[in-house]
Amino acid sequence: MHLSLRQLQIFSAVAQHESYTRAAEQLHMTQPAVSMQIKQLEEDTGIALLQRQGRRMILTAAGAEILGYSKGVLQSYSDLLGAIDHLKSYKQGHLMVSVATTANYFVTRVLAAFSKKYPGINVTLDVTNRAKLLHQLENFEPDLVVMGEPPKGFNLASERMMENPLVVIASATHPLAGKKKIPLDSIRSERFVMREQGSGTRDAIERHMLAHDFTCNSTLEMRSNETIKHAVEAGLGLGIVSSHTVQPEILAGQLCILRVQSFPLLRHWHIVSRKGKRHSPVAQLFYEFIMEEAPKFVGGR
Ligand code: PGA
Repeated sequence: MHLSLRQLQIFSAVAQHESYTRAAEQLHMTQPAVSMQIKQLEEDTGIALLQRQGRRMILTAAGAEILGYSKGVLQSYSDLLGAIDHLKSYKQGHLMVSVATTANYFVTRVLAAFSKKYPGINVTLDVTNRAKLLHQLENFEPDLVVMGEPPKGFNLASERMMENPLVVIASATHPLAGKKKIPLDSIRSERFVMREQGSGTRDAIERHMLAHDFTCNSTLEMRSNETIKHAVEAGLGLGIVSSHTVQPEILAGQLCILRVQSFPLLRHWHIVSRKGKRHSPVAQLFYEFIMEEAPKFVGGR
């Protein structure tokens, strides 16, 4: 047996008006079309639903019972349409965003603005390094990921978002502070405070150094940009970090950017998702929001 919502709507209208003609008017149908649909419904169910009484079409006892269920189905259907509209209006839902440790500097600020605008949307934010992000993407976990250049051949959809320049930082009292066009050779004997293996920043630096035939003689490894900045400020060595992570310390005069040749090393932030993962309306909304807003939080594209 196959019953359609349309049949139930027509049956309900006839029962309400006790007339094929009035039901037809309400539904913008012809009277014969209405009567044919009722006949079909009676055949499909094998139950006489309506009977003529003078000019009125009234419900049989079985028809009255079926009408009760029909109304329930039609009400649920209308609730469903309402829920769809509500979800499409993006006012509520859940969003899972994962970001590279380094991207967190601006993404948290973007998220704060997003949450203020859409308070009904709950956000789960995970901050981790590039290697772990790739693992999460492989398992279809986050809706969206903000990271550096994603690797090829990983079944990922990605869009370039904005520039991510890597700069050489030193304590404000470093002898090369303020010098222009510092040759790469002059920092060969320096110690470098580096991010951990698995970090996208670290990866990019290593490729860059290799291309320039440069080996870091001595390195200290740290898992976060914050600890790198503290170590550099304390004079433990030079750091190479995203310029998006050091604005406040530069402005406060605690750190400086060394103008070393071949730097800044220009990278880009990308917004990435797993191919085949359908964006929810909320994820789509955040995607548009971050593409538009992120550059404002780092001072230019
Ligand atoms: P990370 O992020 O160095 O914090 O891993 C940067 C990137 O994904 O390239």
